[in-house]
Amino acid sequence: MSSELPGTSLDDVHLPGHWLLARLGKRVLRPGGIEMTHNLLRCLNITENDDVLEFAPGLGITARHIIKLHPKTYTGVERDENAARWTQVHLPKSDRIQIVIGTADKTNLSANCCSVLFGEAMLSMSSQKQKEGIVDEAFRLLKPGGVYGIHELCIVPDNAAEEMETKIVKALSSSIHVGVRPLKAADWCQLLKNAGFEILDLGYAPMNLLQPIRIIQDEGLIGAINFAKNVISNTIARKRVFAMKTAFDRYKENLKAMYLVARKPNS
Ligand SMILES: C[S@@+](CC[C@H](N)C(=O)[O-])C[C@H]1O[C@@H](n2cnc3c(N)ncnc32)[C@H](O)[C@@H]1O
Repeated sequence: MSSELPGTSLDDVHLPGHWLLARLGKRVLRPGGIEMTHNLLRCLNITENDDVLEFAPGLGITARHIIKLHPKTYTGVERDENAARWTQVHLPKSDRIQIVIGTADKTNLSANCCSVLFGEAMLSMSSQKQKEGIVDEAFRLLKPGGVYGIHELCIVPDNAAEEMETKIVKALSSSIHVGVRPLKAADWCQLLKNAGFEILDLGYAPMNLLQPIRIIQDEGLIGAINFAKNVISNTIARKRVFAMKTAFDRYKENLKAMYLVARKPNS
């Protein structure tokens, strides 16, 4: 099976920001970086008895970490066909591991099919209605007692002015070229509670996706150097990456990465 990066038919001007970063060599595309992913995986405590489902695996970075924990099964549901193929090709071949092309709010998978569900940097890109659909589907797919971990963008503090929220949404959406709608922590918790979940844990990290230290942590030194070279040598991409970084930096006091762990009650 051949694989190419998502968005190959789009030029650097029109490509969604996360696929532009991928084209430039960035593989970790979530706001709290690989460190927050590891924190979240520790909280989810995946064992050999777990059926794990991941919404939006993207390029499969977290999938690889999950598979190293030897769960009973791993299934990724990814709506971008190229990303799904890319991830399938780069994961170990096993009948316990599969990537399904589909959308997280209507997966067509059976109810109660997983014990751990995971999703990073995908709800923030969804409208409120889509968020509700995805979280309802998560609740349907999880077995009673199963856990749901999310890693998303968060507006802080909970009493931040609505005007600030509007400015952040506008700045992110126009620089990333995708509708980005982060919520406040209280609203993320309410979204999950409305679907029936109970909240177990919550944590924050700075939104440092495009800070040099974070890029080295996430991509390794060689990956970070290659990314920097690609950014410097491509004028359009450089302008776009700096526009994204400027938006993140401008709102750094009010924009954080957040993880949340929730459980589907036993009854
Ligand atoms: C910013 S990337 C994050 C990828 C990966 N989770 C990561 O953290 O590196 C967003 C990903 O979400 C996928 N996505 C967005 N909405 C989705 C949905 N409703 N169902 C499945 N995948 C979705 C996109 O195709 C893309 O792969």
